[in-house]
Amino acid sequence: MSHSPQNYDFGKPEAAYAELARDLTGLLSGERDLIANAANTAALLYDALPGLNWAGFYLYKSGELVLGPFQGKPACVRIAMGKGVCGTAAARRETVLVEDVHAFPGHIACDSASNSEVVIPLIRGGELLGVLDLDSPQHARFSGADAHGLQRLAQIFLDSLD
Ligand code: SME
Repeated sequence: MSHSPQNYDFGKPEAAYAELARDLTGLLSGERDLIANAANTAALLYDALPGLNWAGFYLYKSGELVLGPFQGKPACVRIAMGKGVCGTAAARRETVLVEDVHAFPGHIACDSASNSEVVIPLIRGGELLGVLDLDSPQHARFSGADAHGLQRLAQIFLDSLD
């Protein structure tokens, strides 16, 4: 299976995310293991989306977020609810899109190269499972179309666990 970035034309984000949705569905089909599917989701996103320096998961455990499968540089392990971009998205249960992380109060700088970030909360059966976090060294790398496409991909990941 090949997933090089040139497979997806992000000049047409809707078409690119539709193709990525098909590929993620195929990649996760027949497997329900949380860690395995989170690892492959992070790997596919990191490989497919141009301009990322980090893509991965934080999982909700005992009232805080704990680092899960990811691609990129080593990251902070534990994030309190309400802290940073991840903790904010988790506490609000809303997608948080940050054009300039340096202007976001409480941003947690795991990798100083990061300039923009998008975090999607993962809600399963009404419970917070964790968050999907993507970082970029580019300012304002993520658009509303990215947030929408990534929410769809996050749902495919969640559906794979049922
Ligand atoms: N910047 C995040 C922390 C996680 S790392 O980016 C991987 C935040 O503020 O929540």
